[in-house]
Amino acid sequence: MNVSIKELEDLVRRSDEIMKHIKTHIFSPDGEKHFKKTFKIGEASTLIGRHPATIREAEKQGAINADRTGSGNARGFSLEEINKARRHFNTLPRLGTDEEAAVLAVQNFKGGVGKTSIAVHLSQWLAIRGFRVLLIDLDSQASATTLFGYTPDMDIDADDTLLPYFEGEQRTMHYAIRDTQIENLSLIPANLQLYNAEYMVAAKHDQRPIYSYLPQGVEDIKKDFEIIIIDPPPALGMLSINALVAATSLLVPMPPRMLDFTSSLQFFNMLHETLEEIQGHFGQQITYDFVKLVTSKKKQRTSNERFARAEDDILELARKVFGKEYMLDSIIYESTAIDNAASEFKTLFEIQGQTTGYKSYRMAMASIEAMCEEVLCDLLASWPNLKSRIKAA
Ligand SMILES: Nc1ncnc2c1ncn2[C@@H]1O[C@H](COP(=O)(O)OP(=O)(O)OP(=O)(O)O)[C@@H](O)[C@H]1O
Ligand SMILES: [Mg+2]
Repeated sequence: MNVSIKELEDLVRRSDEIMKHIKTHIFSPDGEKHFKKTFKIGEASTLIGRHPATIREAEKQGAINADRTGSGNARGFSLEEINKARRHFNTLPRLGTDEEAAVLAVQNFKGGVGKTSIAVHLSQWLAIRGFRVLLIDLDSQASATTLFGYTPDMDIDADDTLLPYFEGEQRTMHYAIRDTQIENLSLIPANLQLYNAEYMVAAKHDQRPIYSYLPQGVEDIKKDFEIIIIDPPPALGMLSINALVAATSLLVPMPPRMLDFTSSLQFFNMLHETLEEIQGHFGQQITYDFVKLVTSKKKQRTSNERFARAEDDILELARKVFGKEYMLDSIIYESTAIDNAASEFKTLFEIQGQTTGYKSYRMAMASIEAMCEEVLCDLLASWPNLKSRIKAA
């Protein structure tokens, strides 16, 4: 069979059909995602920052209308109710007047190391804790956008992405910010056409420094958020350089396998060279609050398999060389729970362990939550006022 443009068109049509089918089967009948997770009183108490008895008392007095929702085992407080309670008790985590939003890029030029998975889980976890979070999908593969329930090339137009901003058609990035199914979490989506921004930015290099678009864009919107998380593409292109310059902190996911490990080391090399060039050429000073490697997609050690031992060796070496200064303690394990959830366009926070065994779900959740806790701790180090308010709550 000859495959010409005409057959390719047919292939595209068939692919669209599959996407429509997947969408209506995986999402609710209206094709929209909803965040249905509910929280038991203990969890709700931690999230609200008040003792369970205080919450029950406020409920009794009708000060908050935190009716329990859900049915069966899922009885608990919805996130909307938790936010209502936070407003009532004034425990929403908001920056002090002299504190600035953090801009965290989850970056590594190696593909498939878990950048998007980490960026999306972290953004949802922080938003569930009440922080105002913006996730910027800067990758034309649009995996992060997909995890929010969008089919990038059906639901997202080029005008919904940052392309018009990079083209200069939009002066700020406000137009691209949209709400998500999780309160306090906003998204700037991507689709395949965002790739054109690479050329646009390169073509205009004599009019405007290539690295300057995202830092300026972030500056204009950052007062509306505590944390802006950027999910860049896995290559050193114009968009990635913009992410590296806009960022105030970096997370670098690294599976403890030889190829991924050596690529991560090269990442630091390229990062250093790139920033040095920008600094030398334009005098732009770049400092990060923290740069941390995250061990990602590590195989669970169930036996003495050779590969698992090799991973342990690499991890041990990495810990010795990078130490706590440049590496998180927590380890994100390779988990069918994370992968299965992703294949339903979901994160661990959106499933209740239905798609995999409960044990695998709990273990994956524990490893993701430990990573999120550590990152929050690093973020709070730059926000002493907010940190003391959270502690006092
Ligand atoms: N901890 C994990 N356990 C199992 N599978 C995972 C885990 N993290 C990510 N994955 C899966 O691995 C694949 C790549 O992950 P992800 O998209 O997060 O990586 P990435 O670094 O963003 O990739 P890219 O470089 O293409 O942007 C996806 O199929 C994802 O579902
Ligand atoms: Mg990705």
